[in-house]
This record gives sequence, C-alpha cells and structure tokens, in this order.
Amino acid sequence: MREPAVRAGVSGDTLRPLREPSVRETRETARRGLFVTGTDTGVGKTVLAAAIAAALRARGERVAAAKPVLTGTDEPPDTWPHDDELLASATSQAPTEVAPVRFGPPVSPHLAAELAGTRLSVAELAARTLATGDGDATLVVEGIGGLLVPLGAGASVRDLARALGLGVVVAARTGLGTINHTLLTLEAARAGGLDVRAVVLGPWPRGPSALERSNAATIAELGRVAVATLGEVASPDPDALAAAARDLPLDDWLGAGRTAAPPLDHLVIAVSDWERSNAFYREVVGVEVRRAPGDPPRFRYRLAGVQLNVHGPGMDPQPVARIPAAPGMADLCFAWPGPIEGAAAHLRRHGVAVEEGPVPRYGARGPAQSVYFRDPDGSLLEFMSYAAGGEPAP
Ligand SMILES: Nc1ncnc2c1ncn2[C@@H]1O[C@H](COP(=O)(O)OP(=O)(O)OP(=O)(O)O)[C@@H](O)[C@H]1O
Ligand SMILES: [Mg+2]
Repeated sequence: MREPAVRAGVSGDTLRPLREPSVRETRETARRGLFVTGTDTGVGKTVLAAAIAAALRARGERVAAAKPVLTGTDEPPDTWPHDDELLASATSQAPTEVAPVRFGPPVSPHLAAELAGTRLSVAELAARTLATGDGDATLVVEGIGGLLVPLGAGASVRDLARALGLGVVVAARTGLGTINHTLLTLEAARAGGLDVRAVVLGPWPRGPSALERSNAATIAELGRVAVATLGEVASPDPDALAAAARDLPLDDWLGAGRTAAPPLDHLVIAVSDWERSNAFYREVVGVEVRRAPGDPPRFRYRLAGVQLNVHGPGMDPQPVARIPAAPGMADLCFAWPGPIEGAAAHLRRHGVAVEEGPVPRYGARGPAQSVYFRDPDGSLLEFMSYAAGGEPAP
C-alpha cells in the first residue's frame, strides 16, 4: 500500500495559531442549516448534501456549503468529483471556500493533521464553518466520515456538529447492515446532544427490495426517527442533484425558527448516606459511580452523556442554589432501553417497589411509558420506555 504523502494540505490561509472562540460566541453566530453526517465513509454524505443544497438553490434560496475538513485530495477522483468540487458546483462557491482546511492523504482528519504537523481545533473549525458564505444563506455542512471520527485532542466530529448547533441528517446505506450502523449512529448522536432530524437512505432504487423496504421501516420504528430516501442521482450535474432532493421535507428538517439549545451537562442531587446511595444508583439505576478527587470522599454519577453531581455527608459545597439540593427532593427520569415491563421486572429483582405505572407519559423523545420508584432518601425516580408509545404530544 502506498504510504500517504506527508505534506501539509491547508490551503489558502493556513490554520492560524488558534484563538478559541467561546461556546457562547459560536452559538451566537448559529445559522439556519443542516449538518449531514453518515453511518460511515462512502455512504453518500456528499451526494446528499449537494442534492439538498442544489434543491434549496433551485427554489430560490441562497445556500452555502461547507466541508470543515477535507482529506484525500492526493487521490484521483473516481467517476464523481471530490467532495469540495461537487458541493461547490451545487452552490456556485469556490471549492477552497467550501473546504478551506484540506489534507492530501486519504486518512482520518486527526492523523492527516498530525502528518501535516498541525492540529485541528473544534472551536476554530466551527467558527470558520459558521462564517462560510453570506450569513443569511442556508448552510449545508458535510461531516467527515461518521460522528466518532477523531479530530485530535480527544475531540470528534460529533463535538464539531454540536458546536455548529445545526440539525443533523444521517446518510445511510439501503442494504444489509444498515439497521445496525444507523441505530448506532442515532444513539451516538443523541448521547452527544445532537438534534437528529432524519435518516436518508440512498441511493434508493426505483424498485426497492423487500429487505430495503423493511430496513427503512425498521430504522424508523427502532430509531424513532423520520426516514427519507434519496434516489439514484444520474450525474453530478446540479439539475440532477436538485431533482433528486426536490421531494425531501427540507423545511421540516431546517425547522424554521428552531434554536440550538445547549445540551444538559449535569444536575445536582443530594443523598444522606454515600454507601447506600452509591450502591442503589449503581445497581438499580445503572450509573457509573466515580469518586471525585479530594477529601472527604465525594462522588459523581455518570450516565450516557450527562452526569449527576452528588452532594452528601461531609461536603460543604459552594455555591449552592437558593433552595439547596437536599436528600429526598430530586425528581428525575431515566430512559429505559427496552419495553417498560423490563424496567418493572428489573426493579422487582432489586426489591424496589414500583410506586406507580406503567403509565403513559410524554418525554423528551416523544410518547412513552413510565414506572415510578424512589431512591433510599425518597427522591422520586422514573424509568421511561419509548418502545410502545404513550401520551400524545402536548
Ligand atoms: N444517491 C446517489 N446516487 C448516485 N450515486 C450515489 C448516491 N449516493 C452515493 N452514491 C455513490 O457513492 C459514492 C460515495 O458517495 P459520497 O461521496 O457521497 O459518500 P460520502 O459519505 O460523502 O464519502 P466520504 O466519507 O468519502 O466523504 C459516490 O461517489 C457515488 O458514486
Ligand atoms: Mg463526502
């Protein structure tokens, strides 16, 4: 295999020593637009992003496209142009405006940057990307590979998507394997606080097989997500791209007026007995109990993408809320990954009384079923399952 050429590929102005824009600055510049990610590399992100951009443009909208990091410019293009060129042809931008940060070797961005002797910064990439084109233009951003592709220094493409604050569309294959890859991507996206607007399967054949039809339905049901399809685009021509995306529900995805609310990072609860509560939250709720540095001992409870900071015996936390957290005052709900009967059986196995339920409720992801129980101090806890519907939307 050919060794990737080790040469810097940052064109135009090089990546300056970075002034890190704060999250607040980044969010203030938030724009109308979409972030197109995929379940893998080569799954149709560029074709989908270019088709969305071309369709918006064909109906008279101003559109800018961006590829925050482009790798593999050393490789000759196959039958379709490189990402920057296809996106640029759909929006009439210059390819270097679409993708100002570029590297020759066809490798992950973290490695490409390392080989070029530079480093990538999420804040810098987000600020650059949000500054692409006219501020009023709708921004269509193509991700790099999938969501957990590393950018370096512990950051991933998912962090970049979150910093951009755009709704997310997931490009996925149509055939065997796509259910697993797509559900994994949805889990990773949601755990990272991304707002997934849809999954798009493509290239969708004129006569889909039973497997392909079933894949679309199964992803919609298990992923609790809107599933659309993008047909086979005959050529990279902007008219052909626009025609392929004409019937996609772009306005729904762009969600006029929706703002990018920051994801919740942690909440504070209080407990009266470390040992008892650590065991309860570990075994019954399923958190990872982490000891925080310092004396006297204190603990944090980690969940997927969010944390409970725990106030307990021996601590004198400062500052605190006007009414400080006290044992027994919390009222928290945890998403149960399966049918609600499983949650009730799990509680029974641990000798925890179900106080109410299963009852229909409406949670952050839609209709759900819940069971209620209490922690050792009497805080009200809830397991919520999205597996079988629940209350109608408020
Ligand atoms: N809807 C489609 N119609 C026609 N061809 C498609 C379609 N989607 C994908 N392809 C084909 O698959 C190839 C890979 O798609 P694409 O370049 O969009 O993938 P990608 O996810 O952007 O890859 P990368 O991770 O390299 O950026 C295209 O060059 C094209 O040949
Ligand atoms: Mg691409």
